[in-house]
Amino acid sequence: MFYYKNNELYVEDMKVADIALEFKTPLYIYSKSHFETQYKKLDEKITRRHLICFALKANSNLAVINTFAKLGAGADVVSAGEIFRAKKAGLDTTKIVFSGVGKTPDEIKYALENNILMFNIESFEELEEIEKVACLLNKTAPVSFRVNPNVDPKTHPYISTGLKKNKFGISHTQIVDAYKKASQMKHISIKGIQFHIGSQLTDVSPFFEAQIKVAHIMRELLSLGIKLDIIDIGGGLGVVYENEKEPDLDQYANFINEAFKDFPDSMIVLEPGRFLVANGGIFVTKVLYRKQNEGKNFIIVDGAMNDLIRPSLYDAYHKIEPVVKKNAKKITADIVGPICESGDFFARSREIDSLERNDLVSIFSSGAYGFTMASNYNSRCKPAEVLVDKDKVKLVRARETFEDLIRGETI
Ligand code: LLP
Repeated sequence: MFYYKNNELYVEDMKVADIALEFKTPLYIYSKSHFETQYKKLDEKITRRHLICFALKANSNLAVINTFAKLGAGADVVSAGEIFRAKKAGLDTTKIVFSGVGKTPDEIKYALENNILMFNIESFEELEEIEKVACLLNKTAPVSFRVNPNVDPKTHPYISTGLKKNKFGISHTQIVDAYKKASQMKHISIKGIQFHIGSQLTDVSPFFEAQIKVAHIMRELLSLGIKLDIIDIGGGLGVVYENEKEPDLDQYANFINEAFKDFPDSMIVLEPGRFLVANGGIFVTKVLYRKQNEGKNFIIVDGAMNDLIRPSLYDAYHKIEPVVKKNAKKITADIVGPICESGDFFARSREIDSLERNDLVSIFSSGAYGFTMASNYNSRCKPAEVLVDKDKVKLVRARETFEDLIRGETI
């Protein structure tokens, strides 16, 4: 966890300023205890038999995956690369669910060879491809279908996924046909049903709306003799970035119990990403320069949109504070990076303590969709990542070097 003591920012037992001095900036810093606390909080609330499959896309650093694997977590993956990472991190591959609209034949093969828990199928053509690859390998593929329940999650349009206009899942009007088709295939074993309606939901009622629709589909399937062992309710639980209200976990758990009360033997799979890691990470960057253009203040820092793209891409709000607070007067400024784009900002017209050159600032809530969305744009080396466990600080990904930038390239 992150907190201020005597105006200095700490992560667990360590001063953030000391860590930044040692590992340089820009830098991602993670709190192991925050990750563990979030996992246990959710794990304890869900009273039914369940498996928490951490959505690796939120933060796929090996040490982070390993932290959850040790607590018993599975993984929600969306590529063969994520299966590879999960394995390297010591996660049991039989606890992996594989989502995504565009799984390639090679990825399907890799997943089958690694005996994953199930494929969450998103189209009829994908079903045919999985049957084909499984047949070639002489294996049976465990599957569920991702249903698009057409429920509005009331979140940012880029992260809504359960509306009929979104590319995800199979329409609730066609889903029963998908099961009928699968039940006739030799190399397919029907395991469950899945849905995911969107991300950063702080009001949990849209989940319930979707769950009710899914339970309805399950009853219909049961009348056709198709019984499902797994109900995968996706991810999407929100966190506090600014002043949102936290999602009500008791209500979330009650909704699950209520919606699926007719299916007491099925296992619930959850796919949280952001909820587990967002507030367990900060991005630390250093002030390079300050300037004023016709009365407008700019604070130029050494981190940029290539390191943390959420503000640029979604206009996402991240709290930004000095690592050491000096009770300086407040100014209103744009906090921007060195990249040659006007969209390279962390905050615009933000009220912040007036800063000096070389001051460190912390961009909070950066543990989810931070490093995983980083790029090398402008040939910038990706930042280092450190994981803090009480008074121990471990470099869990080295800062990239120039050689990393050109790996694999030739003239
Ligand atoms: N399961 C599926 C099938 C998903 O598509 C996602 C996220 C998750 C689980 C995990 O969702 P979470 O619990 O983290 O909300 N880059 C965006 C978020 C994109 C989410 C995509 N899917 C952001 O930075 O806000």
